[in-house]
This record gives sequence, structure tokens and C-alpha cells, in this order.
Amino acid sequence: MIDYHAAVRGALFDIAEVCDNADDIAHHARFIEDGLLFIRDGKIQARMSWQEGEQYLDAHKGYTDRRGKLLLPGFIDAHVHYPQTEMIGAFGEQLLEWLTTYTFPVESQFADEAYATEIAEFFISQLLSHGTTTALVFCTLHPESVNALFSEALRLNMRLIAGKVMMDRHTPEYLSETAEQSYQQTRELIQRWQHQGRLGYAITPRFAPTSSPELLEAVRRLREEFPQTWLQTHLSENPNEVAWVNDLWPEHQRYLDVYHHYQLTGERSVFAHGIHLHDEEWQCLHDTGSAVAFCPTSNLFLGSGLFRLPACWQNKVRMGIGTDVGAGTTFSMLRTLGEAYKVGQLQSYRLRASEAFYHATLGGAHALRLDDKIGNFAPGKEADFVVIDPAVTPLQRLRNTRCKDIYEQLFVLMTLGDERNISETWINGQCAWSTAAVS
Ligand code: GUN
Ligand code: ZN
Repeated sequence: MIDYHAAVRGALFDIAEVCDNADDIAHHARFIEDGLLFIRDGKIQARMSWQEGEQYLDAHKGYTDRRGKLLLPGFIDAHVHYPQTEMIGAFGEQLLEWLTTYTFPVESQFADEAYATEIAEFFISQLLSHGTTTALVFCTLHPESVNALFSEALRLNMRLIAGKVMMDRHTPEYLSETAEQSYQQTRELIQRWQHQGRLGYAITPRFAPTSSPELLEAVRRLREEFPQTWLQTHLSENPNEVAWVNDLWPEHQRYLDVYHHYQLTGERSVFAHGIHLHDEEWQCLHDTGSAVAFCPTSNLFLGSGLFRLPACWQNKVRMGIGTDVGAGTTFSMLRTLGEAYKVGQLQSYRLRASEAFYHATLGGAHALRLDDKIGNFAPGKEADFVVIDPAVTPLQRLRNTRCKDIYEQLFVLMTLGDERNISETWINGQCAWSTAAVS
């Protein structure tokens, strides 16, 4: 007998190990068509086939029967802005104009904690209904925005990492702070939230153009004082942005050199985008153990460019997938993977389903340095997972009958799938969201 708290029966797919090249992923992929997951104290206790596991079931506790459904590790969104939820689909601009025209006015509202709470709760319910169980999240400049998000994530016991945006130049009057204020407020937020429940704090300088040297120096000090925190920022997303950074920081040869100079590279540093990187920058990301977030729907929507997945593998740089809402156009990791495939196609790179789902789960966990805690169904990992119905539309039902194996089914899921395919999202061993509960 296994002394479990919950057992779930269904098809199980995950990737057993972190991989340093794309070809290895398929070798480490595991599929059990009729499987059982045993859960105890919020963690995976065992993962086995039905045949093997049936004997361990307790007649009283029983099990949750999800036959016909696919259980995957919860999706990990490596880059997203919760305050931008309400501005998805803002028309017509590229990055720098998009920020001043749409983003800054929207973000200014988050000084009001009640407003921030309303959007934070909506945002987290969107994560769950789209199958995302962990995210690395930008808040706004206002500490209220961080308190609102972390309060809701803590209530649900989610593994969520977030931080207050830091920015002290080239921003509107209504959205600015000094480097000293930014330092003090961030410090207080770290002390309040880091390691509460499963939360993590990410020091969050918005990007080099909105940072003075003093601000980046304050970030450096915070990193030194709180080495267990994460760091998130933007890097080399748009050609005009890169040119601006070169003007602002002429003493540094490349964009990443600015961050590296202030010791912002390193473990638990996640740089969003990294589209227009030079070889030395890729090398620096590798050497410092930094990670990048590939955000395909955002990169296409803002016309930023094509992320070079092959260069990322060649340089052995950790990578996660981000939705980058609201420049990104969906919370759905399935749709995001579908767009990642198309970005690959434009560079003659074939993103296979096993690789795509790796990036959205264990690879993302590796990028965030959480692969000892989440990312697959290994015993001892936290039981954050998603129950997927692979065929919820007539087209999906027809297409599914033609799939020859799980890989084709997963590929069709990332091509045709979206939030309608998410039946349930489990957090810490408990079902936190279910279509059954939605009228
Ligand atoms: N660069 C600086 N700020 C932002 C932002 O909010 N979104 C994106 N996509 N890029 C940025
Ligand atoms: Zn972003």
C-alpha cells in the first residue's frame, strides 16, 4: 500500500532529464498511456502504469479517473507582465512607441492597491485556466502591485516569482522614482515576500534604457545582499532599442555588457528576448549561467524579430518560453509553442513536439533554476500539473483520430490547441482550477 493523499489516473507524458541538446530530448521523453500518479503532501510520490499501480490503491481513498486525458507537468511561463493583461492587442507600434503610447499609462493605475488586487486575481485565474502553474512576472513600479500579486499567489500556494519594476529615467513624470527609492522599496519587498510559501522575489530593472548607472548600481547591491533572489529584465528585443542602448552606454561595447558590468548576469538571471545578440553576448550568457526567455507571440506581434533557437542550443544557454503578455497575445502556452514552431520554420529549424513541451516544462524550470522542484513527474517534485483534453473541438476530434503516436498528438495540440483544452490545473497536489467548476 502507498500512503497517498491523492491518486490520478490518465495518460502521463514528461521529460525525465535536463538536456543540453535538442536531439536528446526525445530519448528522455516518457509516456505511459494508462498511468497513475500518486501524490502526498503536495508532492509526487510515485508515477507508474495502471497495471503496476492498481495494487497500491486504497479502496476508501480511491482515485481520480482521468482516462482519455493527458497529464503534463504544469506549464512554466518564463516572462509575463501581469499589469499588461488589460492591454493585449494594442495596435500598430513597435517596442519603444508601444511602451510610451500604451504601456506606461496602463501601468500607472497600479498605485491603487484595490485596482492592483482586481487585476492580480484576474491574472492568476488566467494562468490557471491556461495550465500555467509557475510564472516569472513583472509587476509595476508600485509596491502595491507586488503585494497584490503575491497575496493572491500565496493564497493558492503557487510557485510564483515576481518583482517591482525599477526604473528611474526616460519614463513619464507620473511613473518615475529615484534609484534610492527603488532600492529601499525593493529591499522591503524582498524582506516581506522572498521564501513566503513557494514565492520567490525577482529584482526587476525594466531594461537598460530606463535605468541610470545609479539604479543599476542599486540592483548590484541588492543582488549582493540577497543572493537567493532572481533577476529579470529585457535584453536586445528591438533594433531601435539596441541602438538606443549603444548611445546611452557608449563605454560598453554591447547591450549585455551593460548588465554584466553591474553583475546582473548569473544564476537565476533571466533576460527576456535576446533576439539581436552577438556571439560574445551568447558566450557571456553561457559563461555566467544566465537564462533567456523566448517570447514568440510578442516578438511577432511587436515585429521585434526572430529568436535564434539554434544559437541558444549551440551556446548552451538556458531558455524558457514566455508569453510576455501584454506584448504577447495569449496566456496559452499551447498557442505560444505553436508560434515558436513557426518562428523556427522561418529559420529552417524544426521544433519538434518533444522539444517544445520540454521548453514549456522541465527546460523552463532549468532556466529558472527550479528543476529540482518542478518540471516533471519525478518522485519528490511538487505536484503542479495540468490535465489536458486533447480533443475538444470537432476539428481536433477528427485530427486526433489520425494521430499515429503521442508525438503527433502533442504536435497537433500545439498547433490547434489553446485554453479550451485545459480541463484541470493542479497546484501543490490539489485541483486549483477545473472546467467542471466553470459554468
Ligand atoms: N522592454 C521594456 N519594457 C518592456 C515591456 O513592458 N514589454 C516588452 N515586450 N519589452 C519591454
Ligand atoms: Zn516583457
